[in-house]
Amino acid sequence: MNRRGFLKMTGGGVILAAATGGAFVTTRRPDAALAPWQTAGTYVDPRMNALSHAILAPNPHNRQPWIVRLDGDDGATLFFDTEKQLPHTDPFDRQLTIGLGCFLELMRMAAAADGYAVETKLFPQGEDAQSLDNRPVATVRFTKSSVAPDALFDHVMQRRSNKEPFDTDRTIHAETLSRILQTPTTARVGGSIAPDDVAFWRALTTQALHVEIETPRTFKESVDLFRIGKAEINANPDGIDFGGPLFEALSHAGIMTREASLDTGSQAYIQGVAAVTENTQTAMGHLWLVSDTNTRADQIACGADWLRINLACTREGLGFQPLSQPLQEYPEMSAHFATTHARLAPGGGTVQMLARIGYGPGVEVSPRWPIEAKIGTM
Ligand SMILES: Cc1cc2nc3c(=O)[nH]c(=O)nc-3n(C[C@H](O)[C@H](O)[C@H](O)COP(=O)(O)O)c2cc1C
Repeated sequence: MNRRGFLKMTGGGVILAAATGGAFVTTRRPDAALAPWQTAGTYVDPRMNALSHAILAPNPHNRQPWIVRLDGDDGATLFFDTEKQLPHTDPFDRQLTIGLGCFLELMRMAAAADGYAVETKLFPQGEDAQSLDNRPVATVRFTKSSVAPDALFDHVMQRRSNKEPFDTDRTIHAETLSRILQTPTTARVGGSIAPDDVAFWRALTTQALHVEIETPRTFKESVDLFRIGKAEINANPDGIDFGGPLFEALSHAGIMTREASLDTGSQAYIQGVAAVTENTQTAMGHLWLVSDTNTRADQIACGADWLRINLACTREGLGFQPLSQPLQEYPEMSAHFATTHARLAPGGGTVQMLARIGYGPGVEVSPRWPIEAKIGTM
């Protein structure tokens, strides 16, 4: 959610003064929650080196639904944390599986940069198309190898999901889009910066956001994951983070709280809606990914594709924000889901991902649980 709209809530008064006052500002960064971005790649065990990068993967609502068991000297098993499901917005765990695909691809890239090849077996004990469960998502084995490093790995530390408005005075060049679309992918990647398409997707993604927000159970699923201010973010470095002095001051003043955000008459709700729709309305182009079939393996492959597309945008200096609302599978969203599929997959297939792109302000990395918190013994 972007910050600009929320400034309006302060009315320029005491809260804004507090939120911009020196000492308060400099002490509000949730350093512990952001530390995993510094410790990635500092381990002796090559698996831990790769896994400490993998936890930086993009993933829906920053749920970080991974648990890893280290096997022997050179193996690991990835499990899905069933506590992290999003039953209302992701009823079949499709998006969460894509996030696990981003994780595995980032692990593979990091291992390659360290001189290791990774052999991966997906769902070795089978899978369920309705829901992920406690069975392994993947087993992996690391072997020392002269595997070529992946050029996209250079951009991992600069990669972000940019949830701020983009600059509508800066257009995207056709050559820039063309370079991004040349990213090798398993699924079909597409994109457009044509004014008619941009106007179409701006409108559709805005309407889809309204559906999610105005459907009480889907909106509550997000609001329950709000982490507001440094203490909450450090205690739970996942979910939807509202860091920085402004949100913290609004929270102390009782204006920006989870309860207020659910109250459709509150400033938190009104400005929240304004902020997210300012994002959809400042898209300067869109990217999408379509798979022919929709198996768990397809979803994992789409995660790898999506990470690579996100990194290609980072390489080009472009802001990138997935906009998954029209792809979500619940009855209230079905009209937007159908329109999106008719336009992007007219011959059949599943639109797995959709994003807006444009030039945005620099943004902070998002919180992560350290890899140590994700090593389990399933
Ligand atoms: C499958 C998938 C769906 C996502 N959908 C959205 C979305 O609808 N809106 C959004 O702002 N971000 C979306 N994201 C981005 C995540 O919110 C983001 O990756 C996460 O908060 C971590 O932040 P980071 O990417 O900056 O590290 C999605 C990411 C994935 C992998």
